[in-house]
Amino acid sequence: MLTAIKGNILEALSLDTLGVHPHSYLVLEDGRVAGIYLTLPETMAEAQVTDFGDALILQSFSDMHLHGPQYEYMGTGMDRPLLEWLEAYAFPTEARYADPVYAREKYRTLAHDLIQNGTTRVCMFSSRHTDGTLILMEELEKAGITGYVGKVNMDRDAPDYLRETTEESQKETLRWLEGCKGFTKVKPILTPRFAPSCSDELLTFLGKLKAERDLPVQSHLSENLGEIALVAKLFPDCGQYWEVYDKYGLFDSRTLMAHCVHSDARERAAMSRKGVWPVHCASSNNSLMSGISPVADMLREGQAICLGSDVSGGTTLSMLRTMANSISAAKDRGSMTWDYDQAISIEQAYYMATSAGQTFFGLKLGFPEGELLHAIVLDDTGLPKLPSLTLRDRLLRAAYRLDDRHITAVYSEGIRRR
Ligand code: GUN
Ligand code: FE
Repeated sequence: MLTAIKGNILEALSLDTLGVHPHSYLVLEDGRVAGIYLTLPETMAEAQVTDFGDALILQSFSDMHLHGPQYEYMGTGMDRPLLEWLEAYAFPTEARYADPVYAREKYRTLAHDLIQNGTTRVCMFSSRHTDGTLILMEELEKAGITGYVGKVNMDRDAPDYLRETTEESQKETLRWLEGCKGFTKVKPILTPRFAPSCSDELLTFLGKLKAERDLPVQSHLSENLGEIALVAKLFPDCGQYWEVYDKYGLFDSRTLMAHCVHSDARERAAMSRKGVWPVHCASSNNSLMSGISPVADMLREGQAICLGSDVSGGTTLSMLRTMANSISAAKDRGSMTWDYDQAISIEQAYYMATSAGQTFFGLKLGFPEGELLHAIVLDDTGLPKLPSLTLRDRLLRAAYRLDDRHITAVYSEGIRRR
């Protein structure tokens, strides 16, 4: 069946190129993108059109780093640095997800709220609990969210009530992967929490498992100076943090590394060489006093950076706000030395929030033809109508001023979910 949605369509076609289609039709055949047209071609004249007037039609968001079980306490403990905050807030909360009934209720809310915020693709950490992780995957898939979810591995440097034994971690990871076989849209990603929380034996196991089953990997890298010092102490044979993951075969073109705030030229060169994907988490970097990431430099170097909300180190699920936070953080970094080259543009922020993630999932940029539609409608028509504003200006303003209340439609996998 032919359908179309009509509005001001904006696509992130490259890091610096916004595809702008004013008052155009995004035509779908059975939910798959058939093309974008200013006027409907004759052959498509019978398409059922949903007209969103002067609203913006954007690619939906890919949140490439967040922690499912942490959502419930978002905004709590934001006056503590990373390692203290993990002990005081993250670990006790995650422990509650041993209870499947509790997990189901919380994860259903999270899946609903992600859709409300226009996030239809994710790379997400669960807790270390196998059953809770499978429940999270179920709830995401039911809500229409696609992507990767990982059962967290942590067999050291965590409190007794949450830490797994090495053997348990291995056994449960295999049981979790068995349980993942029923899913079609939400896939498993290996998730060593971060180097300090995994023993050499566990990392060896995960590296082998990755190679055997060709699995992607997600973790944290060089987020915080205290963490980096801890890694140096725990892995004295590794010259730099990234070398820990690399040593165990967990650092390649299917690896997402969250934060990379303190990655120096050498670490960044290693990421480029190996094709590792840094995930920029501006809100969390600020909240946990981790630092300000050199995003503009990393973009200039050609790093494949995506954006992550990092809920709940980050304080918002909204990827609109996450784009605005990224732009603000880049300016903060530049402001310290009057270095305007540290700023990033809305084109870059929108690209990192959408197309960059799509690429990680093996999709083309923008609204790829033949793919099921993932899109949001963002209604900024309540804001002042300044005649000089271009659609680009409106996108930038929307990042700063709009939130889930202004998202009037969300499409995922070709189906309207909101
Ligand atoms: N490093 C290890 N675990 C975490 C976590 O839960 N949040 C953040 N921001 N960093 C981490
Ligand atoms: Fe994180």
